Amino acid sequence: MPLLVPPLMAPGTMARRPQPEIDADGLRLRPWRPSDRAAVVAGYADPAIRRWHCRSMTDDEARAWIAGWPERWRRETGAGWAVVDHTGVLGQISLRRLDLAEGLAEVSYWVLPAARGRGVAPRALAALTGWAFTGLGLHRVELSHSTANPASCRVALRAGFPAEGTKRGEGRHADGWHDMHLHARLRGDPDQRTATRPVTGGPAPAPR
Ligand SMILES: CC(C)(COP(=O)(O)OP(=O)(O)OC[C@H]1O[C@@H](n2cnc3c(N)ncnc32)[C@H](O)[C@@H]1OP(=O)(O)O)[C@@H](O)C(=O)NCCC(=O)NCCS
Repeated sequence: MPLLVPPLMAPGTMARRPQPEIDADGLRLRPWRPSDRAAVVAGYADPAIRRWHCRSMTDDEARAWIAGWPERWRRETGAGWAVVDHTGVLGQISLRRLDLAEGLAEVSYWVLPAARGRGVAPRALAALTGWAFTGLGLHRVELSHSTANPASCRVALRAGFPAEGTKRGEGRHADGWHDMHLHARLRGDPDQRTATRPVTGGPAPAPR
């Protein structure tokens, strides 16, 4: 049956180009490398990341997780970046769901415990979203977080994602169903970011 609304973005929009590195206000988003395995294992060993991302990760699973991102880029079903500074990996951010025909994506992020409280997630989210609109051409980027996770709500607001509502009982976690807040930005929305806190320590050397 013919579609009456043409796809927003043609197949191949992502696959025909390499996954970019993205500047993020003193941080850098770069494609995962095999040598990042220990940081991924450490991430999924953290109780808060386990709680909100509902998974654990062995060393072998981390290797497979990292190896899977290029394939997801080629298939245009997702894209993942390590968030780094000069000290190494601070966290992850990804387009965990992606629909190029509709121009939609859903974001996921976590930050390693030692790197929290420095605006890493809001800066990474704002930068990824800027690229998703202007570099890739998406129409809408959204994220959901449990209503029991106020830190993630702050990240969304700081990155200019207003709250759109509450999805009742949408998130299945280890302790049962959670209501989820939905936040989103549309391409063309006015910049509604609230200022991120200043990063201490002066300018960073080139990220690794
Ligand atoms: C949520 C998370 C990504 C935030 O990353 P971060 O880089 O530390 O973000 P920030 O330093 O900018 O802090 C985020 C905001 O949350 C606030 N915050 C932190 N803990 C909080 C809490 N328990 N309750 C309310 N607000 C909290 C901070 O004060 C900050 O708000 P502010 O900038 O208005 O002061 C990080 O804590 C994390 O990885 N948590 C575990 C995994 C997770 O929750 N992932 C998201 C799933 S949807």
